[in-house]
Amino acid sequence: MNIAKAFRGHIFDFSDKAHPHNLNQEYRYFEDGLLVVENGMVKHSGEFNKTKQLLNADVKIEDHSGCYILPGFVDAHVHSVQTQAIASYGKELLDWLDNYIFPNERHFENPEFADRHIDFFTRQLLKNGTTTAMVYSSVHDASVNALFRAAEKYNMRMITGNTWMDRNAPDYLLKSPEESYNASKTLIEKWHNKARLHFALTPRYAITSSPESLKVVSTLLKEYDDDGLYLQTHISENKKEVELVNHSYPGNHHYLDVYDSYGLLTPRTLLGHGIYLSEDELKRISQTGSSIVHCPSSNLFLGSGLLNLQNIIENDIHLAIGSDVAGGTSFSMLRNLHDAYTISALNGIPMNPLLAIYLITLGGARALDLDDRIGNFDVGKEADFVVIDTSKNELLSYRLENAHSIEEILFAIVMLGDEKVIKSTCLMGESIWRGENGLSR
Ligand code: GUN
Ligand code: ZN
Repeated sequence: MNIAKAFRGHIFDFSDKAHPHNLNQEYRYFEDGLLVVENGMVKHSGEFNKTKQLLNADVKIEDHSGCYILPGFVDAHVHSVQTQAIASYGKELLDWLDNYIFPNERHFENPEFADRHIDFFTRQLLKNGTTTAMVYSSVHDASVNALFRAAEKYNMRMITGNTWMDRNAPDYLLKSPEESYNASKTLIEKWHNKARLHFALTPRYAITSSPESLKVVSTLLKEYDDDGLYLQTHISENKKEVELVNHSYPGNHHYLDVYDSYGLLTPRTLLGHGIYLSEDELKRISQTGSSIVHCPSSNLFLGSGLLNLQNIIENDIHLAIGSDVAGGTSFSMLRNLHDAYTISALNGIPMNPLLAIYLITLGGARALDLDDRIGNFDVGKEADFVVIDTSKNELLSYRLENAHSIEEILFAIVMLGDEKVIKSTCLMGESIWRGENGLSR
């Protein structure tokens, strides 16, 4: 059965020719636009009057006039198992992990706790307009199963995996490489590439993964070479962390070598943070096609440092944005862009609003190697989108009375927007989050 739907509003996205240097030419904006969806996929996107003529008479038009319709947001680095540790006071990364994060992740050994908390987490993503996320679960398979189940229920694109740790964490969170291997393998067989779900091998980072463990990760990665497994890990987020890694892996040229020497850098590898990477490391990341995830809110909250965004872009590295909750203090990708802007301004190169929106839509999709399916409104893409109602934020709508270009409008949305302006979050054309009315399922 063909089920067509259409959505009217201010429609904005980027063409598939867009990249960080040509965004001015490659954005598409229909002030009065119509997005047509058939069987969950984009059928047309264009100017209202023209596009309406392509519709059968019986197609219902959902009217969001006055609202902005953007591709669904991509959060490429977030910890589902840290939500209750958000806003924990006053420590840098390594102490913060020991004092707040590890004890919090322990709760997920209980499957009932995992179900309840993962449900809350998923709801936070949806109410903030996030339709695709790459997520660190805990070492417990209950947290992975709970998240995949929730994502399947709402039909979200979701990437996650059990975190591997075999040293430098409390005993209650340590698993041997063999245990982690077996757990990952079972989860891959159960979930990878089912519905809109993908598995990510998740060695937490070099400090909590021994060389033996990274070797086992690389074995598993190779076993599923043809199935497109993802891999996620942290790198060069904090100065003390970098010192410790250099000290504990003295045979390597630099931090990246720890992962590179085990063959862990592929186009489906997402490296979180990367603040203190050297030029050599950036060049190597570019060669491998791996991506960096900038986590601005987290980098400010934990006092980790100021990522030089421009340097990553100049090195032709795919870049995405991650909320990194609970290092980050907001699930809102708009609030995270606000922080990314602040960091870029402190670095002396204020981020262009087009780049900001690109990074949480098509750019994020590219970094996740999913741009053939999501990221913009090209015909045949999955119709994941967010409807933004600026009137829900008084200050923002007042500011917009004095905005004269789409760049100015988007910049104000980025700087002043938050979860309140998310009127609807749609997954494959279906409104799953409906603002004040909550979730539809
Ligand atoms: N490095 C290793 N683990 C973590 C984590 O949970 N959060 C952040 N921000 N950095 C990490
Ligand atoms: Zn993280």
